[in-house]
Amino acid sequence: MTVQSFVYESADAASAACASKVLELLGQALSTQPHASIAVSGGTTPKRMFADMARSGFDWTNVHLFWVDERCVPPTDSESNYKLAKDHFIDAAHFPAANVHRIQGELAPADAANLYAADMSSFFKLDPDHPMPRFDVIHRGLGPDAHTASLFPGEPLIDDHKNLAAAVYVEKFRQWRITLLPGVLEAARHTLTLAAGADKAEPLNSVLRQPYDPKKYPAQIATYHGAGAIWFLDKAAAGVAVGS
Ligand code: 6PG
Repeated sequence: MTVQSFVYESADAASAACASKVLELLGQALSTQPHASIAVSGGTTPKRMFADMARSGFDWTNVHLFWVDERCVPPTDSESNYKLAKDHFIDAAHFPAANVHRIQGELAPADAANLYAADMSSFFKLDPDHPMPRFDVIHRGLGPDAHTASLFPGEPLIDDHKNLAAAVYVEKFRQWRITLLPGVLEAARHTLTLAAGADKAEPLNSVLRQPYDPKKYPAQIATYHGAGAIWFLDKAAAGVAVGS
């Protein structure tokens, strides 16, 4: 299994490179299938990547947009991952509204998770022989504690490889969130993790160099053994893990 990592001078350069890889992989998918699918993360780092994707002039007609996770807030809330993508990508790209598969963070967490799982099941036409959606691209982030999606260290849901999405209470932020679960992350054709900033150097070093222990380093999910896992890093994040 290949785990590639690319290091750039700046967060902007890493974001731009990740954006062009997203377009390349979606283009490849559309050359052999009628639709392509991508799930994106939130946080702060993706802003520049979203802006580059919006400026690309890419034809989004047959691309379907999903989320890796969402905070349980209304779509107009500054904490909303949907709002982040809308403000920096969806509106500027004139992304087809019918292809946006938003996590309804304003609903009761369990209802939001169930509706999102049902939406994925219907879009990917899941059945007992095909229980997991296979996203063409999943864009991931890396938290300072080695979390990814909304799977934080110690989270019992990290052992759930059967379900698609779940509501999770994140104690450190006193916040309910909806997150994709490991089975979906591992089924992705391509996993692109964009990480920037010095506070990512230590978790990245652990994720790439420590033995596989996703309960301790959730960002290892689908990157440690994953097919087609690529890291886009700035120098500050790469630090020792990739530099030496
Ligand atoms: C979220 C994310 C989360 C994010 C990391 C990194 O909703 O917060 O999806 O998993 O990717 O926390 O966030 P930054 O890019 O802000 O460092």
